[in-house]
Amino acid sequence: MEYHNPVLLHPTVDGLNIKPDGIYVDVTFGGGGHSKEILRRLGPNGKLFAFDQDEDALANALPDERFTLINENFRFIKRFLRFHGVKGVDGILADLGVSSHQFDVPERGFSTRFDAELDMRMSQKNDLSAYRVVNEYEEQDLRRVFFDYGELKNAPLLSRTIVEAREHRPIKTTDELKDVLAKFLPERIRNKVLAQIYQAIRIEVNQEMDVLKEFIEQSLEILNPGGRFSVISYHSLEDRLVKRFIKNGMFEGEPERDFFGNFSVPYKTIGKLIVPNDAEIKINNRARSAKLRIAEKI
Ligand SMILES: C[S@@+](CC[C@H](N)C(=O)[O-])C[C@H]1O[C@@H](n2cnc3c(N)ncnc32)[C@H](O)[C@@H]1O
Repeated sequence: MEYHNPVLLHPTVDGLNIKPDGIYVDVTFGGGGHSKEILRRLGPNGKLFAFDQDEDALANALPDERFTLINENFRFIKRFLRFHGVKGVDGILADLGVSSHQFDVPERGFSTRFDAELDMRMSQKNDLSAYRVVNEYEEQDLRRVFFDYGELKNAPLLSRTIVEAREHRPIKTTDELKDVLAKFLPERIRNKVLAQIYQAIRIEVNQEMDVLKEFIEQSLEILNPGGRFSVISYHSLEDRLVKRFIKNGMFEGEPERDFFGNFSVPYKTIGKLIVPNDAEIKINNRARSAKLRIAEKI
């Protein structure tokens, strides 16, 4: 089975406006689709650093002396690049979320298609798992997870139902969770609601929103002036953070005006929002929710 089919491959790499001698970072290496294309465009003196927190991705490391793969969370991008002697880079690419590999291996627990133990950790080093969120979180914390990350209006009822069920015995697998929540999963909306529940738990397990914020802030510090930021997100919570930061240099509120009354912002937006065309979605259904934003550091 293919590890991952890269989404919006050319526009995302085009967005980096690659200089042959530049230093680039692919923070979501996965199957290496985007990394291979970056290396193809780099000259002999260019460099590519890639991150992936999933040990499984290490098997895809590219045999190229211009390439270094770092098996760490990209929330530590600045620290690990510094460790490799890199202070400034010319472009950063992020293709957020889960790889097809993670989704397709039943034991990883990311998919509602299989009956597997509740897991959903992208990194094998992560202590928090879907099992712990479902079985150990206080009711109000579960409610927050479902409400904030799944945008589920019935978050209070879902949480209450889980807490009551686990008083009898722990909820260990996908099918047990589906059974516990059966009354909220009528056939008509079953897949949609399950996807929202799973998205919420996954975001919490991997602390995806906090991680993304830390990464976005550090990227700005690391990019050289004129350096490019090319980011694909897959749900509105991620896209909102990326969009706001590119526009305003902050996640909330408005930037301050300078002496002349102009907004002082760190990025220039490059082009419009890019989404996959019908042909790409037809051959790769996982591309359907992708949104690509490109920015250049001023
Ligand atoms: C959508 S896939 C990327 C696929 C890749 N662009 C390709 O062409 O094969 C996302 C990958 O990023 C990794 N990932 C997600 N969040 C991460 C994080 N915070 N730190 C490091 N890796 C992360 C996942 O483990 C997964 O392999």
